[in-house]
Formats: sequence, structure tokens, C-alpha cells
Amino acid sequence: MSRKADLAAARAEHERLGAALTEHDRAYYQEDAPKISDADYDALRRRYEALEAEFPELGGAGSLTKKVGAAPAEKFAKITHAIPMLSLGNIFADEDIFEFVARVKRFLGSSADIAFTAEPKIDGLSCSLRYERGHLVSAATRGDGSVGEDVTANVRTIAAIPQKLLDAPDVLEVRGEIFMSKADFAALNARQAEAGEKIFANPRNAAAGSLRQLDPSITARRPLRFFAYAWGEVSAMPADTQAGMIACFAGLGFPTNPLTSLCETPEAMLAHFRAIEAQRATLDYDIDGVVYKVNELALQGRLGFVARAPRWAVAHKFPAEQATTELLAIDIQVGRTGALTPVAKLKPVTVGGVVVSNATLHNEDEIARKDIRVGDTVVVQRAGDVIPQIVSVVSHQEGAPPYVFPQTCPACGSAALREIDPKTGEADAVRRCTGSLACPAQAIEKLRHFCSRNAFDIEGLGDKQIAFFFEKGLIRTAADIFTLEERDRASLTKIENFEGFGKVSTRKLFAAIAARKSIVLNRFIFGLGIRHVGETNAIRFARAFENFEAFREVARKAAPGTPERDHLNAIDGIGDVVAEAVADFFIEPHNEAALDALLAQVTPFPMEAVKSDSPVAGKTVVFTGSLQKMTRDEAKALAERLGAKVSGSISKKTDLLVAGADAGSKLAKARELGVETIDEDGWLRLAGVDEG
Ligand code: IVH
Repeated sequence: MSRKADLAAARAEHERLGAALTEHDRAYYQEDAPKISDADYDALRRRYEALEAEFPELGGAGSLTKKVGAAPAEKFAKITHAIPMLSLGNIFADEDIFEFVARVKRFLGSSADIAFTAEPKIDGLSCSLRYERGHLVSAATRGDGSVGEDVTANVRTIAAIPQKLLDAPDVLEVRGEIFMSKADFAALNARQAEAGEKIFANPRNAAAGSLRQLDPSITARRPLRFFAYAWGEVSAMPADTQAGMIACFAGLGFPTNPLTSLCETPEAMLAHFRAIEAQRATLDYDIDGVVYKVNELALQGRLGFVARAPRWAVAHKFPAEQATTELLAIDIQVGRTGALTPVAKLKPVTVGGVVVSNATLHNEDEIARKDIRVGDTVVVQRAGDVIPQIVSVVSHQEGAPPYVFPQTCPACGSAALREIDPKTGEADAVRRCTGSLACPAQAIEKLRHFCSRNAFDIEGLGDKQIAFFFEKGLIRTAADIFTLEERDRASLTKIENFEGFGKVSTRKLFAAIAARKSIVLNRFIFGLGIRHVGETNAIRFARAFENFEAFREVARKAAPGTPERDHLNAIDGIGDVVAEAVADFFIEPHNEAALDALLAQVTPFPMEAVKSDSPVAGKTVVFTGSLQKMTRDEAKALAERLGAKVSGSISKKTDLLVAGADAGSKLAKARELGVETIDEDGWLRLAGVDEG
């Protein structure tokens, strides 16, 4: 073939790869949600660069080799880096170290050994921290290398990053990696799963997602860490070597990586690479290689940069920890809040020295997107992550049907549904069991909610006791609570003989339970634990219906598009998400049966009719400070009975602030906004409570 034809084919491939890489860059940098593994990305990138090496005409200004990362996302203000933040070239094989060192020496025309620092390459996201006269004035992500995102407010919430420096140069830009530890990542994901929120694929994504929050209070709740390893603008250099600069950062209070070593020869660099590789699995943070940097800053200056990376540094990447195995089954686990999570059961395989037999499948869409089917040969990856994941499907078994995600809960058989976000019309990633009253996987959680203070408020049935009775098989459903005494009477193993109970407390417990056999409707509804029905919505329903049966009659017929659904939607303050959740709950037959059993024991009574002639009817009331004559909950309930809306915070919309003793910032704010303020006695008079 002629060179012309070769060039045409290469150009087509180069363009195709460029488009794919651009899309992957976007997914990685802007959405913190990569679509392929780092190893696969690196392979695409290498091929792209190889094409340019062979056909230099492809490496024009539009080439990705001239860019770093991706343009900063629109949602953040931009910061132009005083000195660009660059990327690193990669090497993969041991021999590449020798070649890299030889290249550096050749460039410098030096035959003497050159010292390099060798340190872990942290798998997080880089950040540039600018200090002026010792004060942190701005923090920016790398962005496209020239312009980054302003994450100053978020970075101020990271404990490891000093806000003030003593004895620092007038201008000092410290650069390094923001990351999340593996343990913190696992805990965060567990919390996210519980709350039905986004699950992060790995600690890097979790760190990026946490830092790039518009609300810094979210970042503050995420455990982010930092290692300093580079710098940008510095008004007076405090050292003349890489190692000296890092030591200086440590002296200023920045965390620096303890596995940094000064190597005089390529052999020593390789030995340190091996040492770090051997520790990789036991480190509490993800690393994906080792970075070598020329130690003398004067030499760094002479070597300079090519395109997007310095000539004086390189990243030696670890081989990806991947392996191929068979997907034996897809298990569906039901979480405490009813979320259905798919888990891959694998034919055990060793990945990076660890035997893996389970892998996360994230969610239903992920399975469909990768077209994962039972029996597939799959690539699993343990890229330092706590939970192994399936990267891709190698092949399907002949005749294997596409995987169909269950539409019912494997624990109780109730319908499992995905909520639709009314704003976007998109289905939630998580499918949830609607049989909250009937599902054994959710039972303990629902029982705890049922007995909680603002629901049935059964004294003596706290979290510990519920778990205890559940394990003993004595309380499995809400209805069981109310038959406990009767069953105990007939039982040979009496509760009073269990450790920690005794005669008196058992009698008290039975009395507390009996007292709740009749309960106000809003508490009853709240206690059912229907998704999106908190105290306020429970009150709305309790007010809108004369009694529970009336509510139930409407709710069980409130499929989308019915007059009953319109009826629910017409209730003031009830939106479609809530109406949908209520309908799903009452339509589910498993819940019907559990409700019937509960109603055979408990009788809800209507809320007192709301007095619309009270002086606070229709007003928004806020309580603050400590009340002496009634609890805050009682005061709230009273206000609501009188037709007021109770709010937790002061705003221009607040009509009245009731300030108890030691009221603080809310009182100050109310005064500032000119909101009418009364004390507890004033409140009692207003509410018409007889103090006699
Ligand atoms: S030095 C001019 N050192 O790797 C050299 N980078 O692929 C600047 N990274 O953007 C980078 N650990 O996010 C350096 N010990 C380390 C690193 C490190 C992680 C990241 C950093 C950089 C990327 C380059």
C-alpha cells in the first residue's frame, strides 16, 4: 500500500480514537464517572500517540496530545493558573525506566548519574493551592491545565490543608493530590446506598465528586485528604531540589507522602517501584504507579516541557489488576431501606493477589449498558478498589438471554419499582421494594421507625430491644408488637426471665404497648414508614381524611391517571412523588395483609379538627430556645392543631417566632427581619392554653 493510503487509514483511525478519547475525558473529568478502566483508556491513548509518532502530520494543533484533561465544568467559576498544571508521560515496562533515564542524560549531555525522587502516584485529583502572605487565597482543580475550577470554598473544609502558613514565601502555590482513603470511600458508599444516593465507582470518583460540589457543606462532610508533591508560582524558592521542596512543604504543615525516596541510579528507582508495588494492597489509599522526578531543580529547568508533560518526570504505571472469569449468577440483595442491589457471583479468580468471587454490578442500568448476562466470560478489576467490579464482557454463552432485572423483591415478593423524577422524567438508578411493611429484609429498620419517638413512641422498645425481639422471633411485624403480651402469657420462656428485662420492666413495656393500641392518625400514618411520608406529610394526610379507612380507600386505588390519584395530588403540599409512593405502598398486596393484621390490633383516631379561627391559623411559626412548660414536639403539635405551619428556620416568610429561654441566632435573625417575637408565656396565651 502507498504511504498516501496508509495516511488516510491512519487519519481515520486517529479521528475515531480522538472522538472516543474526548468523550472518555469528558466522562472522567466533568462527570467523575469514567466509562472504561484506566488501563483501557491508557491503551487507547497509546495507540493514538503511536499513530502521531508514525504520521507526524496528524499531530496538529487540534491533537489531544496538546491538551491536558478537559475544560473546566461550567458550574464553577474559573481560575487561570499562574503556571500551567501539566500532566505526566507514562511508562509501563521495567526497561522503560532505563530508557527514560538515558533520555534525560542525553538531553543534558551528561554521563554522570542523575538523582531522581520516586514516590507513589496517588489516584485522586490534583489541586493547586495559592497562598499569599501565608493565607490560603484560592484553590483550583487542574481543569484543562491552563484554566481550572475555583474550589476554594470547598477546599477550606478539608482539615489536612492548612489555611495559614508561618514563614512561607509571599506567594506560594502548593500543588498536590486530593484523595479519599479506601476505608472512607467504603463507608461513604455504604451511607450513599442507604440513602439511595449515587454510588461512586472508586475512591478517585468519590473524591472528585465530593470536591466538585456547589455546596461546600457537602464537601465538609466528605473525608478528603491531601498530599503535596509539586508547586506553581513561588515568589522565592525555599529549596533547590525536589526533595528539599517537599521537605519544606512538610515543614509548613502539609501532608507529604512517606514513601518518597531519593534514587541515585535506575536500579534504585526500579527497586523502589517494586517496594511500593508490594505495599500497594495494604496502603489505605489508591495509587496507580510511581512518579520519578529529576531531583535538581536547575536540571528540571533545563529539561523543560514537551507538549503536555515535563521532560524531567514520568509516571511508571502498575499493570491493571484485572482477570478474566465466568459470571456464575447475579444475586439481588435487598438493603435495609428496600434498595435492590445486584451482586455478581463469580467463579473464583485471583486478581492482584486476592481471590475474588463477588463483584459489584452497581445497578440495573449498568448491567444493561454492559449487556452482562449470566454465564458470560467477564473481565474483573480490583484496581485497588475495595469492591471488585466487572469492567467488560468478553463473550456471552451461546443462546444466553439478556439479563432481566427482577421486578419483584426477592425477599418478600412485593413489587420493586424505580421512582421517576418528575422534573427530569428519568427513572432512579435504584429499584426499591414497595413492601415495606411485609419485607423481612427491611423489617428491623421499619420496626425501629414504627416505634420511634414521633411515630408510636413505645417506651422500652428501643433499637436494641427491637433487634433482640426480632432475633428471638418474637417480633417480626408491627402487629406482633401488640400480641407480644398475649403470646408471652402462653409461653414457657417468659420475657421477664430474659437478661436485662425482669418483672418490672416487662410490665412497663406491656403497659407502654397497650397505651398505643389507640393512636392519633398522623402518628399512625407516619409509623407505616411509607417512602417520602415524613411527619409533615403524615399530618397532611391525617387532616385531609376523616379516618384511616377513608385514606386507605383512596390510596389503594390511586394508580396514575385515576381520580383517586388526583385526589391525593389535590391535598395541599402533596406532590406527585409523594402521591406515587403512597399509591405504590397501598396497592402492594403484601402491605395490605400486614396492614389488616396491624389494624386488628391498633385503632387510629382522627386528629383534632384544626381550628381555623385561632390567631395563628395560616401563619408560619418558628420555635427556638428551650420551652419550660411543654416539649418542643408538643408545642409544634399544638401549633399545627391550631392551623399554623411550623418551620425550622427564620425567613421573611416567618410570621411569628416563639423564643424560649436561651434563644440564640434565630432570635437575632428574627429581630433583624422584623419578625414578631413572643416568649413562652405569650405563646401559651395565644394558643389559649389554660395555665391554671
Ligand atoms: S507530579 C509537572 N506527582 O498525576 C508534574 N503527579 O498524570 C506534575 N499525580 O495531574 C505532576 N500523584 O494529578 C505528580 N506524586 C505525584 C502524583 C501526581 C498523582 C497525578 C496528578 C497529575 C497526574 C499526571
